[in-house]
Amino acid sequence: MSPVPPVLAMEQVTQAYSHPRTALFRAPGTFTVLDCIDFHVHAGEAVGLVGESGAGKTTLTRILTGMEKPQSGRVLFEGADIWQAGPAERARFRRSVQMVLQNPRSSLDPRMKIGTALLEPMRSLRIDGNHLDRLTEVLGQVGLDTSALERFPHEFSGGQLQRIAIARALMPNPRVLVADEPVSALDVSIQAQVLNLLKDLVRDLGLSLVFIAHDLSVVAYTTHRASVIAGGRIVETGPPVELFTRPKAPQTQNLVSAVLTVNSGLSGNAL
Ligand SMILES: Nc1ncnc2c1ncn2[C@@H]1O[C@H](COP(=O)(O)OP(=O)(O)OP(=O)(O)O)[C@@H](O)[C@H]1O
Ligand SMILES: [Mg+2]
Repeated sequence: MSPVPPVLAMEQVTQAYSHPRTALFRAPGTFTVLDCIDFHVHAGEAVGLVGESGAGKTTLTRILTGMEKPQSGRVLFEGADIWQAGPAERARFRRSVQMVLQNPRSSLDPRMKIGTALLEPMRSLRIDGNHLDRLTEVLGQVGLDTSALERFPHEFSGGQLQRIAIARALMPNPRVLVADEPVSALDVSIQAQVLNLLKDLVRDLGLSLVFIAHDLSVVAYTTHRASVIAGGRIVETGPPVELFTRPKAPQTQNLVSAVLTVNSGLSGNAL
């Protein structure tokens, strides 16, 4: 019997971008943003990806969610290459892997009522039907009620808006949520609420979570396993507690000392 493949994975992914051309007769140089990356998440697992600004985290999520095609390497959904998939498989992948972005104020259209915004993925993924029951269900899952449906984004706080963005990602009943810095635009006082919500969703719905952050403590709070990315390479992977207490790579050590510096600056009030 073959073991169950990860629900979502990338194998040996490399991505390079060109520098802007600086001279007319010289070919533009390239720089490697991701270098032979292996990364995976199993069903029901929460995996973290942590690294400094510019390390390649967002590029990795763009490739993992199929928004960008890697120059080399493969992206696998339930063991099958998404770039080799037929239309039906591709549609199932697009429904099953949903993203939550950093700033809900820029990811939700200010002129669109919440009800319309929540139906947007159903429209773009061509999932037919009357989705009223589903709207009620997902709003309940993120701790809001149906009175939100007729309101506009400006009527909500940042934390509530991030709940709405999470509800929108849940609408098509995904198997994987990919959250790129989902709390770093939020007030520190409400960050923990959104982190708890993500943890609850993983536990209660059996979702897989890929959680991106630059702060190791936030990743440690939310995930079962984490990878540290630096300069486009995964430099270390392990249970977050291990990374915290026995960091091996120098880049992991830097992330740990950054957390400790911030925490002492906040006089014990940090997460
Ligand atoms: N489309 C692109 N064209 C050229 N360079 C790019 C492109 N996208 C990203 N880069 C570069 O790739 C590197 C990694 O960027 P990326 O956005 O993946 O980092 P990040 O880890 O998400 O950083 P942050 O924590 O600031 O969000 C950066 O040097 C960035 O300038
Ligand atoms: Mg980023």
